[in-house]
Amino acid sequence: MKVLGIETSCDETGVAVYDTVAGLLAHALHTQVAMHRDYGGVVPELASRDHIRRVVPLIEKVLHEAGLTLGDLDGIAYTQGPGLAGALLVGASVASALGYALRIPALPVHHLEGHLLSPLLATPRPDFPFVALLVSGGHSQLFDVTGVGRYRLLGDTQDDAAGEAFDKTAKLLGLPYPGGPALARLAEQGTPGAARLPRPMLASGNLDFSFSGLKTAVLTLARKEAAGGATESLPFARKADLALEIQSAIVDVLAAKAIAALAQAGRKRLVVAGGVGANLALRERLRAGVTAEGGEVFYPDLAFCTDNGAMIALAGALRLAGAQAGDYVFEVRPRWELTSLTTPAAAA
Ligand code: KG4
Ligand code: ZN
Repeated sequence: MKVLGIETSCDETGVAVYDTVAGLLAHALHTQVAMHRDYGGVVPELASRDHIRRVVPLIEKVLHEAGLTLGDLDGIAYTQGPGLAGALLVGASVASALGYALRIPALPVHHLEGHLLSPLLATPRPDFPFVALLVSGGHSQLFDVTGVGRYRLLGDTQDDAAGEAFDKTAKLLGLPYPGGPALARLAEQGTPGAARLPRPMLASGNLDFSFSGLKTAVLTLARKEAAGGATESLPFARKADLALEIQSAIVDVLAAKAIAALAQAGRKRLVVAGGVGANLALRERLRAGVTAEGGEVFYPDLAFCTDNGAMIALAGALRLAGAQAGDYVFEVRPRWELTSLTTPAAAA
């Protein structure tokens, strides 16, 4: 079964074809980062218009690369939510129109389920059950995962997500959007121990996170040290020290809670997904910490950590069995809890 996946929830147009037998056949991505950079963040209306321009040429490109035509497809998966409403509508309408024209199912996919299952695209592929650390721009969550659609929430953020903490503190340091990768690069030049920031909720005794205090701590420090209290005016070397400490604080908390979650759920496998999962310091810390406890960590390839069409095609393919062609009335869900999902009929 071949499924086309379309991701348009935010600022990347991602398209891919996944085959339930042969695996990922082709994928393509257009990122809007350069377009939004001047505004310091994603401008929803510009994002929607750009998805409209990109999505059909990307579909043609992946089909060509996979050596397929539209007639070879068995389903069209699209991100139904959560995300920006206008951006989601682009993928939903294109997928539903194609499904209608081809008389094959249009499959609504939860964006976070896509992230959560994305390590299944990699080799070696983790078996269920596993604990998933989902760290994206809007989410920092831990789940006990026992199958497709079986997600038990173990821990959640009380305020900012880890990606948001990277992005907001990077902005304070005058780094360009998106802040996470820029801050990680700057951190490479920092001196360990030269700055000290809190590790929020590290000793909270539960698996929840809170990252908004980190941003306040960076601001407070800047008010003391920087000319006029503006963090951007700190010397380069000091910014690098701060970047390293911010990254270490986030990594310390994420790693400690993920390892505690494995113990609490009685699992040996940890899966890390979402944009912050591309952070190399986090990857290294988790690898060391989890293997020391006799466990194993699984990641998607770096290209599939951030938003992409492959994870949507995969999640759609895992939900294809039992899906019916015929219902092309679509609705997007800008807000949508992952734990509200149920197991697909065929896998129940
Ligand atoms: O999963 P994602 O691409 O989009 C959402 O669904 O939110 O995650 C984007 C987030 C952003 O906050 C970005 O700064 C962060 O992932 N990110 C990183 C890195 N690459 C992306 N954070 C830290 N280090 C990175 N290398
Ligand atoms: Zn995402």
